[in-house]
Amino acid sequence: MRVGLYPGSFDPITNGHVDIIKRSLAVVDKLIVGIGISATKTPLFSLEQRMAMIDSEMGPIAKAVGAELSVISFEGLLVDVAQQNGASLIIRGLRTAADFEYEAQMTSMNRAMAPGIETVFLAASADVGFISSTLIRQIHAMGGDISPFVPKCVLDNI
Ligand code: PNS
Repeated sequence: MRVGLYPGSFDPITNGHVDIIKRSLAVVDKLIVGIGISATKTPLFSLEQRMAMIDSEMGPIAKAVGAELSVISFEGLLVDVAQQNGASLIIRGLRTAADFEYEAQMTSMNRAMAPGIETVFLAASADVGFISSTLIRQIHAMGGDISPFVPKCVLDNI
């Protein structure tokens, strides 16, 4: 059974994340979405809200394609979380060259720490490749409309 771990902050989950999760479900038997807890950031959505939104949005989609989905939160090293949860793949979405610079460095560090775990990059689909949670939080804070960028569960919770 191929288990993938898709980590992120998901504050909030965006249409870009939905794209990556859907496509990941086609390449793994089980996908674990891991929400990293950051002690320094003050989130827009609580951890519980983020977990519930991902579960409600993506659970039925995973079921429809016969894949298993679980949503967890974690503190500490990503490679430890992968190993503890039996994941052999870490999945990350790539939007821009700037993403690649950062992700490539993180991947090499992770591989140095845990050679048995591969990181797989999925290039963002063209129609959602510009979306970022950070910019969505900014737009929302300034009274802008975020509805084109997020799934319905986010709008229902905001
Ligand atoms: O949504 P983000 O901000 O891209 O998610 C970042 C996340 C949670 C994937 C990253 O911060 C992470 O991997 N945190 C775990 C800590 C860790 O393992 N750090 C060393 C990486 S080399």
